[in-house]
Amino acid sequence: MELLNFELPYDRPSPLEPPPAYADLRKDSPVIRTQTGAGTPAWLIIGPKEAQSVLSDRRFAITREGDPPDVESLLNDGENHARLRRVMAHGFSARMMNSLKPKVDRIAEELVEEMRAAGPPANLMELVAHPMVLGVITQMLGVPVEDRERFYKWAIAVSVVIIDEEQGLAQGWAELLEFLSALVQSKREQPQDDLLSTLVAVRDSEDGRLNDTELLKTAAGLLTGGQLTTVNAITIGVMKLIEMGGGLAGLTDEHKLELAVEEIFRHQAGISGETFPRYARADVEIAGHHIAEGDMVIVRLEGVNRDPALFSDPDKFDPARSPNPHMRFGYGPHRCVGAAIARLTVTAAIRALANQLPTLALTVPLDEVPWTGLPLDNGPSELIVTW
Ligand code: HEM
Repeated sequence: MELLNFELPYDRPSPLEPPPAYADLRKDSPVIRTQTGAGTPAWLIIGPKEAQSVLSDRRFAITREGDPPDVESLLNDGENHARLRRVMAHGFSARMMNSLKPKVDRIAEELVEEMRAAGPPANLMELVAHPMVLGVITQMLGVPVEDRERFYKWAIAVSVVIIDEEQGLAQGWAELLEFLSALVQSKREQPQDDLLSTLVAVRDSEDGRLNDTELLKTAAGLLTGGQLTTVNAITIGVMKLIEMGGGLAGLTDEHKLELAVEEIFRHQAGISGETFPRYARADVEIAGHHIAEGDMVIVRLEGVNRDPALFSDPDKFDPARSPNPHMRFGYGPHRCVGAAIARLTVTAAIRALANQLPTLALTVPLDEVPWTGLPLDNGPSELIVTW
């Protein structure tokens, strides 16, 4: 699967903004013939209607014809994928989210309190964003308290490793997968009130149950899908609220907070939480373009979410924007399973910061914040704040 050459040949002068070329390209058509960083011809989609057509149409598959099928993971198509999603829905129920919410809120308040107590300047990324997101994933998976430190170390190591350093990736993953495998086993023997135990216990009359490999891949998938995406949403969100959105002070009001978090999601640009490429499994016509069987199609949500037909003044970061029908979590059968958790987590982090540190400020201008440059989830590598 071609997951790594995600950059397209358009200049991106700021990692906080989509390539300026999208605005001109969009005037001609929301469907653009282009090529990936690896030189593979591809279609770029930046129109909301066209993005929805592609993402909801089973004729556009995540796997390429002839790729070895990975039937035990969500990076899959058709009935195998649909079954996994149905079984997983048991673990992402409203009951589960309600029970998670107070725990997430508490994690946020405690982390911000610790950062405040240590005093400024502080690296918000290290002290709040990373431990916050890992704390939530650990709660969901039910990682025992005594294992959390080891788990954090592996999780951060595998998330920030540059993917072509094969050795590092293999080593980190091997240890993490071994740990997760033992965790799945312990949930089988002693189920608790967590998502992994719920998934272990699911025995759906129609869909059966998840086998150990499926459970392992699900747990690993929550980390790869949920960690840096949410860390980036928190840090980039804080940067934008402070520098473009009037600061954090007003966000103790729940309604204002809710609108601001949706705008953080909408406005987020760059390669983080973007869709996987799709491959046409048949000839398909979209917006007057003939997409041939086998063609690669890349939907860029950062483009869709700046469409002027859907959003007035789309490049403006407006924390009070309403309505805000963004597509930050995708669309169709692969829509983000963790959207509700991401919302809970980002909201809790911003609320805790607004409550405890309403005067939060950056110590350097926005364009001097260092970025990781990671190919899949580029984001700040640190965010030094003061108050
Ligand atoms: C701000 C944070 C997040 C963003 C922007 C985001 C974005 C997305 C998007 C756009 C997709 C669809 C991909 C596609 O169609 O190719 C997706 C899928 C997915 N996300 Fe998220 N996500 C976030 C947080 C999370 C969290 C917290 C979790 C887990 C707890 C998670 C787990 C997943 C998984 C497992 C999939 C694959 C679903 C499937 O293929 O059926 N994500 N995410």
